[in-house]
Amino acid sequence: MHLTIDRLGHQGDGIAHDADGVAVFVPMMLPGEVVEGEVANGRMAAPKIVTPSPDRVKAPCRHYRACGGCMLMHASDAFVADWKAEVIRLALSAQGLDAPLRPTATSPARSRRRATLSGRRLKSGALLGLHARASDTVVEITDCQLLHPALMATLPALQEAVVLGGSRKGEVAFTLTLTKSGVDVAAEGGKPLDSSLFQALATLAGAADLARLSWNGEPVATRRPPAQRFGEALVVPPPGAFLQATAEGEAALLSAVREAVGGASRIADLFCGCGTFALPLAEGAEVHAAEGEAAMIAALDHGWRHAPGLRRVTTETRDLFRRPLMPDELNRFDAVVIDPPRAGCEAQARELAASKVPVIAAVSCNPVTFARDARILSEGGYRLDWVLPVDQFRWSPHVELAARFSRD
Ligand SMILES: C[S@@+](CC[C@H](N)C(=O)[O-])C[C@H]1O[C@@H](n2cnc3c(N)ncnc32)[C@H](O)[C@@H]1O
Repeated sequence: MHLTIDRLGHQGDGIAHDADGVAVFVPMMLPGEVVEGEVANGRMAAPKIVTPSPDRVKAPCRHYRACGGCMLMHASDAFVADWKAEVIRLALSAQGLDAPLRPTATSPARSRRRATLSGRRLKSGALLGLHARASDTVVEITDCQLLHPALMATLPALQEAVVLGGSRKGEVAFTLTLTKSGVDVAAEGGKPLDSSLFQALATLAGAADLARLSWNGEPVATRRPPAQRFGEALVVPPPGAFLQATAEGEAALLSAVREAVGGASRIADLFCGCGTFALPLAEGAEVHAAEGEAAMIAALDHGWRHAPGLRRVTTETRDLFRRPLMPDELNRFDAVVIDPPRAGCEAQARELAASKVPVIAAVSCNPVTFARDARILSEGGYRLDWVLPVDQFRWSPHVELAARFSRD
Protein backbone atom coordinates (compact mmCIF):
# COMPACT_ATOMS: atom_id res chain seq x y z
CA MET A 1 0.00 0.00 0.00
CA HIS A 2 1.20 3.55 -0.83
CA LEU A 3 0.53 6.17 1.85
CA THR A 4 1.43 9.79 2.52
CA ILE A 5 2.24 10.77 6.10
CA ASP A 6 -0.09 13.56 7.26
CA ARG A 7 1.41 14.35 10.64
CA LEU A 8 3.21 12.97 13.66
CA GLY A 9 1.22 11.59 16.58
CA HIS A 10 2.00 12.35 20.23
CA GLN A 11 4.36 9.37 20.42
CA GLY A 12 6.33 10.61 17.38
CA ASP A 13 4.96 7.97 14.95
CA GLY A 14 3.91 9.09 11.46
CA ILE A 15 0.14 9.02 10.90
CA ALA A 16 -1.29 8.42 7.41
CA HIS A 17 -4.84 7.59 6.25
CA ASP A 18 -5.80 4.73 3.95
CA ALA A 19 -8.37 5.01 1.11
CA ASP A 20 -11.20 4.54 3.65
CA GLY A 21 -9.85 7.32 5.86
CA VAL A 22 -8.66 4.88 8.54
CA ALA A 23 -5.54 6.01 10.41
CA VAL A 24 -2.36 4.00 9.84
CA PHE A 25 0.64 4.42 12.14
CA VAL A 26 4.06 4.32 10.47
CA PRO A 27 7.14 4.40 12.74
CA MET A 28 10.05 6.81 12.19
CA MET A 29 8.42 8.90 9.46
CA LEU A 30 7.96 12.61 8.84
CA PRO A 31 5.00 14.61 7.48
CA GLY A 32 4.78 14.65 3.66
CA GLU A 33 6.78 11.45 3.21
CA VAL A 34 5.36 8.85 0.82
CA VAL A 35 5.82 5.29 2.05
CA GLU A 36 5.06 1.81 0.79
CA GLY A 37 4.54 -1.41 2.72
CA GLU A 38 2.16 -3.96 4.24
CA VAL A 39 -0.42 -2.67 6.71
CA ALA A 40 -1.60 -4.90 9.54
CA ASN A 41 -3.65 -3.89 12.57
CA GLY A 42 -3.49 -0.21 11.63
CA ARG A 43 0.31 -0.26 11.44
CA MET A 44 2.88 -0.28 8.64
CA ALA A 45 5.71 -1.93 10.55
CA ALA A 46 8.36 -2.07 7.79
CA PRO A 47 7.84 0.96 5.54
CA LYS A 48 9.96 1.66 2.47
CA ILE A 49 10.35 5.40 1.93
CA VAL A 50 9.33 6.35 -1.64
CA THR A 51 9.65 10.14 -1.19
CA PRO A 52 11.68 11.36 1.79
CA SER A 53 11.00 14.67 3.56
CA PRO A 54 13.55 17.50 3.16
CA ASP A 55 13.60 17.50 6.99
CA ARG A 56 14.90 13.91 7.10
CA VAL A 57 18.51 13.57 8.32
CA LYS A 58 20.86 10.67 8.94
CA ALA A 59 20.40 9.79 12.62
CA PRO A 60 23.52 10.84 14.54
CA CYS A 61 23.52 7.64 16.64
CA ARG A 62 24.50 4.17 15.50
CA HIS A 63 22.07 2.54 17.97
CA TYR A 64 19.05 4.51 16.69
CA ARG A 65 17.34 1.75 14.67
CA ALA A 66 17.24 -0.70 17.58
CA CYS A 67 17.27 1.45 20.71
CA GLY A 68 14.01 2.82 22.11
CA GLY A 69 15.68 5.78 23.86
CA CYS A 70 15.15 8.23 20.97
CA MET A 71 12.19 8.58 18.57
CA LEU A 72 12.93 11.63 16.42
CA MET A 73 16.59 11.34 15.46
CA HIS A 74 15.64 11.01 11.79
CA ALA A 75 14.39 14.62 11.81
CA SER A 76 16.43 17.83 11.61
CA ASP A 77 16.82 19.87 14.82
CA ALA A 78 14.79 22.68 13.24
CA PHE A 79 11.92 20.30 12.45
CA VAL A 80 11.85 18.88 16.00
CA ALA A 81 11.94 22.37 17.56
CA ASP A 82 9.06 23.56 15.33
CA TRP A 83 7.08 20.35 15.86
CA LYS A 84 7.29 20.71 19.66
CA ALA A 85 6.16 24.35 19.39
CA GLU A 86 3.28 23.22 17.17
CA VAL A 87 2.18 20.63 19.76
CA ILE A 88 1.83 23.49 22.26
CA ARG A 89 0.08 25.76 19.74
CA LEU A 90 -2.48 23.04 18.92
CA ALA A 91 -3.13 22.24 22.59
CA LEU A 92 -3.79 25.93 23.27
CA SER A 93 -5.96 26.32 20.21
CA ALA A 94 -8.08 23.33 21.30
CA GLN A 95 -8.91 25.42 24.40
CA GLY A 96 -9.59 28.56 22.33
CA LEU A 97 -6.27 30.14 23.35
CA ASP A 98 -3.38 31.67 21.49
CA ALA A 99 -0.07 33.18 22.64
CA PRO A 100 3.26 34.37 21.28
CA LEU A 101 5.55 31.34 21.17
CA ARG A 102 9.26 31.94 21.66
CA PRO A 103 11.90 29.87 19.85
CA THR A 104 12.32 26.42 21.43
CA ALA A 105 15.20 26.13 23.93
CA THR A 106 16.75 22.74 23.09
CA SER A 107 19.29 21.07 25.37
CA PRO A 108 22.50 19.95 23.64
CA ALA A 109 23.36 16.33 22.83
CA ARG A 110 24.93 14.28 25.66
CA SER A 111 23.40 16.46 28.37
CA ARG A 112 20.83 14.17 30.10
CA ARG A 113 21.86 14.00 33.74
CA ARG A 114 19.16 11.60 34.85
CA ALA A 115 18.26 8.32 33.18
CA THR A 116 17.16 4.76 33.90
CA LEU A 117 19.13 1.91 32.34
CA SER A 118 18.31 -1.78 32.37
CA GLY A 119 20.71 -4.61 33.12
CA ARG A 120 20.14 -8.28 32.32
CA ARG A 121 22.30 -11.14 33.64
CA LEU A 122 23.47 -13.47 30.88
CA LYS A 123 24.93 -16.98 31.08
CA SER A 124 28.29 -15.30 31.00
CA GLY A 125 28.53 -11.58 31.67
CA ALA A 126 25.68 -9.07 31.49
CA LEU A 127 23.87 -6.80 29.08
CA LEU A 128 23.36 -3.16 30.04
CA GLY A 129 21.50 -0.50 28.08
CA LEU A 130 18.08 0.84 27.12
CA HIS A 131 15.01 -1.06 26.04
CA ALA A 132 14.47 -1.61 22.33
CA ARG A 133 11.51 0.16 20.69
CA ALA A 134 8.20 -1.15 22.19
CA SER A 135 9.97 -4.20 23.60
CA ASP A 136 11.59 -5.45 26.81
CA THR A 137 14.76 -6.52 24.99
CA VAL A 138 17.78 -4.64 26.32
CA VAL A 139 19.92 -2.90 23.67
CA GLU A 140 23.53 -2.35 24.69
CA ILE A 141 24.49 1.30 24.18
CA THR A 142 28.18 1.96 23.95
CA ASP A 143 27.97 5.41 22.39
CA CYS A 144 24.83 7.27 23.45
CA GLN A 145 24.12 10.78 22.07
CA LEU A 146 21.65 11.48 24.85
CA LEU A 147 23.34 10.72 28.15
CA HIS A 148 25.93 12.92 29.82
CA PRO A 149 29.44 11.43 29.47
CA ALA A 150 29.71 11.14 33.27
CA LEU A 151 26.73 8.75 33.27
CA MET A 152 28.18 6.80 30.34
CA ALA A 153 31.46 6.42 32.28
CA THR A 154 29.64 4.36 34.93
CA LEU A 155 28.45 1.72 32.45
CA PRO A 156 31.32 -0.78 32.94
CA ALA A 157 30.77 -0.66 36.73
CA LEU A 158 27.01 -1.14 36.36
CA GLN A 159 27.58 -4.10 34.04
CA GLU A 160 29.83 -5.57 36.73
CA ALA A 161 27.10 -4.91 39.33
CA VAL A 162 24.65 -6.94 37.21
CA VAL A 163 27.15 -9.81 37.07
CA LEU A 164 27.48 -9.63 40.87
CA GLY A 165 23.86 -9.09 41.85
CA GLY A 166 21.57 -9.58 38.84
CA SER A 167 19.30 -12.59 38.72
CA ARG A 168 18.63 -14.56 35.53
CA LYS A 169 14.88 -14.12 36.18
CA GLY A 170 14.54 -10.36 35.85
CA GLU A 171 16.20 -7.07 35.11
CA VAL A 172 18.08 -4.67 37.33
CA ALA A 173 16.87 -1.09 36.77
CA PHE A 174 19.55 1.52 37.44
CA THR A 175 18.41 5.10 38.00
CA LEU A 176 21.42 7.33 37.44
CA THR A 177 21.60 10.96 38.54
CA LEU A 178 24.56 13.22 37.92
CA THR A 179 25.17 15.30 41.05
CA LYS A 180 27.76 17.92 42.04
CA SER A 181 29.71 15.18 43.79
CA GLY A 182 29.56 12.41 41.18
CA VAL A 183 26.98 9.92 39.97
CA ASP A 184 24.24 8.71 42.32
CA VAL A 185 23.07 5.18 41.38
CA ALA A 186 19.87 3.55 42.69
CA ALA A 187 19.52 -0.10 41.60
CA GLU A 188 16.21 -1.97 41.88
CA GLY A 189 15.34 -5.56 41.02
CA GLY A 190 18.63 -7.29 41.86
CA LYS A 191 19.23 -10.21 44.24
CA PRO A 192 18.61 -9.49 47.93
CA LEU A 193 21.66 -8.04 49.67
CA ASP A 194 23.74 -10.42 51.78
CA SER A 195 27.04 -9.50 53.38
CA SER A 196 29.23 -10.70 50.52
CA LEU A 197 27.13 -8.91 47.86
CA PHE A 198 27.12 -5.78 50.05
CA GLN A 199 30.90 -5.89 50.32
CA ALA A 200 31.45 -6.52 46.60
CA LEU A 201 29.08 -3.69 45.59
CA ALA A 202 30.67 -1.27 48.07
CA THR A 203 34.10 -2.06 46.60
CA LEU A 204 32.70 -1.53 43.09
CA ALA A 205 31.21 1.86 44.11
CA GLY A 206 34.66 2.90 45.38
CA ALA A 207 36.48 1.73 42.25
CA ALA A 208 33.97 3.56 40.00
CA ASP A 209 34.08 6.64 42.27
CA LEU A 210 30.27 6.76 42.57
CA ALA A 211 28.86 9.37 44.94
CA ARG A 212 26.32 6.87 46.25
CA LEU A 213 25.10 3.39 45.41
CA SER A 214 21.81 2.05 46.76
CA TRP A 215 20.59 -1.49 46.11
CA ASN A 216 16.89 -2.34 46.39
CA GLY A 217 16.39 0.85 48.44
CA GLU A 218 19.29 0.21 50.86
CA PRO A 219 22.36 2.46 50.77
CA VAL A 220 25.42 0.27 50.07
CA ALA A 221 27.94 3.10 49.81
CA THR A 222 27.48 6.82 50.46
CA ARG A 223 30.92 8.12 49.61
CA ARG A 224 29.88 11.76 49.17
CA PRO A 225 26.44 13.38 49.68
CA PRO A 226 24.81 13.49 46.20
CA ALA A 227 24.09 17.24 46.17
CA GLN A 228 22.52 19.51 43.56
CA ARG A 229 23.18 23.25 43.40
CA PHE A 230 20.07 25.44 43.21
CA GLY A 231 21.38 29.03 43.07
CA GLU A 232 23.49 29.58 46.20
CA ALA A 233 22.10 26.51 47.96
CA LEU A 234 23.35 22.94 47.94
CA VAL A 235 20.53 20.44 48.34
CA VAL A 236 20.74 16.67 48.81
CA PRO A 237 17.48 15.39 47.24
CA PRO A 238 15.98 12.18 48.62
CA PRO A 239 16.68 9.10 46.41
CA GLY A 240 14.54 9.13 43.27
CA ALA A 241 13.38 12.73 43.80
CA PHE A 242 12.39 14.80 40.77
CA LEU A 243 15.19 16.70 39.02
CA GLN A 244 14.98 18.64 35.74
CA ALA A 245 16.46 16.33 33.08
CA THR A 246 19.34 18.55 31.92
CA ALA A 247 21.27 21.42 33.51
CA GLU A 248 20.59 23.47 30.34
CA GLY A 249 16.83 22.76 30.50
CA GLU A 250 16.77 23.78 34.16
CA ALA A 251 18.67 27.00 33.33
CA ALA A 252 16.20 27.85 30.50
CA LEU A 253 13.20 27.24 32.78
CA LEU A 254 14.72 29.20 35.67
CA SER A 255 15.59 32.12 33.43
CA ALA A 256 12.00 32.16 32.07
CA VAL A 257 10.56 31.95 35.61
CA ARG A 258 12.84 34.80 36.79
CA GLU A 259 11.76 36.95 33.82
CA ALA A 260 8.08 36.13 34.42
CA VAL A 261 8.07 37.04 38.13
CA GLY A 262 10.14 40.19 37.47
CA GLY A 263 10.74 42.25 40.61
CA ALA A 264 8.18 40.40 42.79
CA SER A 265 9.21 40.51 46.44
CA ARG A 266 6.84 37.83 47.81
CA ILE A 267 6.60 34.67 45.75
CA ALA A 268 4.82 31.34 46.23
CA ASP A 269 6.47 28.35 44.51
CA LEU A 270 3.84 25.61 44.21
CA PHE A 271 4.90 22.04 43.36
CA CYS A 272 8.37 23.26 44.36
CA GLY A 273 10.18 19.88 44.51
CA CYS A 274 13.57 20.33 46.22
CA GLY A 275 13.77 24.04 45.42
CA THR A 276 14.89 24.27 41.77
CA PHE A 277 13.11 27.64 41.49
CA ALA A 278 12.39 28.57 45.13
CA LEU A 279 16.03 28.71 46.24
CA PRO A 280 17.39 30.83 43.35
CA LEU A 281 14.33 33.12 43.62
CA ALA A 282 15.11 33.58 47.34
CA GLU A 283 18.20 35.57 46.32
CA GLY A 284 15.84 38.52 45.74
CA ALA A 285 12.44 37.66 47.22
CA GLU A 286 10.78 36.01 50.19
CA VAL A 287 9.50 32.65 49.03
CA HIS A 288 6.83 30.28 50.32
CA ALA A 289 7.48 26.80 48.87
CA ALA A 290 4.78 24.09 48.87
CA GLU A 291 5.05 20.48 47.70
CA GLY A 292 3.41 17.12 48.40
CA GLU A 293 6.54 15.13 49.35
CA ALA A 294 7.75 15.79 52.89
CA ALA A 295 11.27 14.48 52.16
CA MET A 296 11.71 16.97 49.31
CA ILE A 297 10.52 19.83 51.50
CA ALA A 298 13.00 18.74 54.22
CA ALA A 299 15.84 18.72 51.66
CA LEU A 300 14.86 22.19 50.41
CA ASP A 301 14.65 23.57 53.96
CA HIS A 302 18.04 22.08 54.88
CA GLY A 303 19.60 23.58 51.73
CA TRP A 304 18.13 27.02 52.54
CA ARG A 305 19.34 26.96 56.17
CA HIS A 306 22.92 26.28 55.07
CA ALA A 307 23.05 28.73 52.12
CA PRO A 308 24.54 32.21 52.57
CA GLY A 309 22.59 35.40 51.93
CA LEU A 310 19.14 34.12 50.96
CA ARG A 311 15.90 35.87 51.93
CA ARG A 312 13.38 33.99 54.07
CA VAL A 313 11.99 30.72 52.66
CA THR A 314 9.00 29.15 54.41
CA THR A 315 7.94 25.63 53.48
CA GLU A 316 4.82 23.54 53.61
CA THR A 317 4.15 19.87 52.82
CA ARG A 318 0.72 20.02 51.21
CA ASP A 319 -1.30 18.02 48.74
CA LEU A 320 -2.09 20.78 46.25
CA PHE A 321 -4.62 18.63 44.36
CA ARG A 322 -6.78 18.15 47.43
CA ARG A 323 -5.85 21.30 49.34
CA PRO A 324 -4.79 23.99 46.85
CA LEU A 325 -3.80 27.39 48.25
CA MET A 326 -7.00 29.42 48.53
CA PRO A 327 -7.44 33.01 47.22
CA ASP A 328 -6.94 34.58 50.67
CA GLU A 329 -3.64 32.70 51.00
CA LEU A 330 -2.60 33.47 47.40
CA ASN A 331 -3.36 37.19 47.62
CA ARG A 332 -0.35 37.67 49.95
CA PHE A 333 1.99 37.09 46.98
CA ASP A 334 3.12 39.35 44.12
CA ALA A 335 3.83 36.30 41.96
CA VAL A 336 3.12 32.56 42.01
CA VAL A 337 5.19 29.84 40.32
CA ILE A 338 3.40 26.60 39.37
CA ASP A 339 5.21 23.49 38.11
CA PRO A 340 2.79 20.57 38.51
CA PRO A 341 3.25 16.94 37.41
CA ARG A 342 1.82 15.70 34.07
CA ALA A 343 -1.73 15.76 35.45
CA GLY A 344 -1.54 19.55 35.68
CA CYS A 345 -3.09 21.53 38.55
CA GLU A 346 -6.76 22.02 37.81
CA ALA A 347 -7.81 22.60 41.43
CA GLN A 348 -4.98 25.07 42.06
CA ALA A 349 -5.68 26.85 38.76
CA ARG A 350 -9.31 27.38 39.85
CA GLU A 351 -8.18 29.05 43.09
CA LEU A 352 -5.60 31.14 41.23
CA ALA A 353 -8.32 32.19 38.78
CA ALA A 354 -10.32 33.51 41.76
CA SER A 355 -7.28 35.29 43.26
CA LYS A 356 -5.75 38.75 42.72
CA VAL A 357 -2.17 37.52 42.18
CA PRO A 358 -0.77 39.80 39.44
CA VAL A 359 1.67 37.34 37.83
CA ILE A 360 1.89 33.57 37.42
CA ALA A 361 5.00 31.82 36.09
CA ALA A 362 3.92 28.40 34.83
CA VAL A 363 6.16 25.45 34.03
CA SER A 364 4.65 22.33 32.50
CA CYS A 365 5.68 18.94 31.14
CA ASN A 366 2.30 18.36 29.45
CA PRO A 367 0.90 20.85 26.92
CA VAL A 368 -2.60 19.31 27.11
CA THR A 369 -3.07 19.80 30.87
CA PHE A 370 -1.24 23.12 30.65
CA ALA A 371 -3.74 24.34 28.05
CA ARG A 372 -6.69 23.10 30.16
CA ASP A 373 -5.35 24.99 33.21
CA ALA A 374 -4.49 28.02 31.05
CA ARG A 375 -8.13 28.20 29.97
CA ILE A 376 -9.24 28.20 33.61
CA LEU A 377 -6.83 31.07 34.31
CA SER A 378 -7.93 32.91 31.21
CA GLU A 379 -11.61 32.59 32.21
CA GLY A 380 -10.54 34.08 35.56
CA GLY A 381 -9.14 37.15 33.77
CA TYR A 382 -5.48 36.24 33.15
CA ARG A 383 -3.68 36.98 29.88
CA LEU A 384 -1.24 34.41 28.54
CA ASP A 385 1.70 36.74 27.73
CA TRP A 386 4.13 34.26 26.17
CA VAL A 387 5.13 30.62 26.05
CA LEU A 388 8.67 29.24 25.82
CA PRO A 389 8.90 25.65 24.51
CA VAL A 390 11.74 23.84 26.32
CA ASP A 391 13.18 20.64 24.91
CA GLN A 392 15.24 18.84 27.51
CA PHE A 393 14.07 15.42 26.25
CA ARG A 394 15.86 15.83 22.95
CA TRP A 395 14.84 13.41 20.18
CA SER A 396 11.80 12.27 22.19
CA PRO A 397 8.19 13.36 21.58
CA HIS A 398 8.08 14.82 25.11
CA VAL A 399 7.22 18.56 25.18
CA GLU A 400 7.85 21.00 28.04
CA LEU A 401 7.32 24.72 28.42
CA ALA A 402 7.45 27.82 30.60
CA ALA A 403 4.86 30.58 30.35
CA ARG A 404 3.78 33.87 31.89
CA PHE A 405 0.24 34.85 32.86
CA SER A 406 -0.65 38.30 34.16
CA ARG A 407 -3.67 40.35 35.12
CA ASP A 408 -4.12 44.09 35.65
C1 LIG B 1 7.40 18.59 37.64
S1 LIG B 1 7.89 18.36 39.31
C2 LIG B 1 8.53 19.97 39.63
C3 LIG B 1 9.42 20.09 40.82
C4 LIG B 1 10.22 21.40 40.92
N1 LIG B 1 9.44 22.57 40.58
C5 LIG B 1 11.48 21.32 40.07
O1 LIG B 1 11.55 22.00 39.05
O2 LIG B 1 12.39 20.58 40.44
C6 LIG B 1 6.33 18.31 40.08
C7 LIG B 1 6.37 18.26 41.59
O3 LIG B 1 5.03 18.17 42.05
C8 LIG B 1 5.00 17.35 43.19
N2 LIG B 1 3.60 16.87 43.33
C9 LIG B 1 2.98 15.89 42.63
N3 LIG B 1 1.69 15.76 43.03
C10 LIG B 1 1.50 16.70 43.99
C11 LIG B 1 0.39 17.09 44.79
N4 LIG B 1 -0.81 16.47 44.66
N5 LIG B 1 0.54 18.09 45.68
C12 LIG B 1 1.73 18.72 45.80
N6 LIG B 1 2.82 18.40 45.09
C13 LIG B 1 2.72 17.40 44.19
C14 LIG B 1 6.01 16.27 42.89
O4 LIG B 1 6.48 15.65 44.09
C15 LIG B 1 7.10 17.05 42.16
O5 LIG B 1 8.08 17.50 43.06
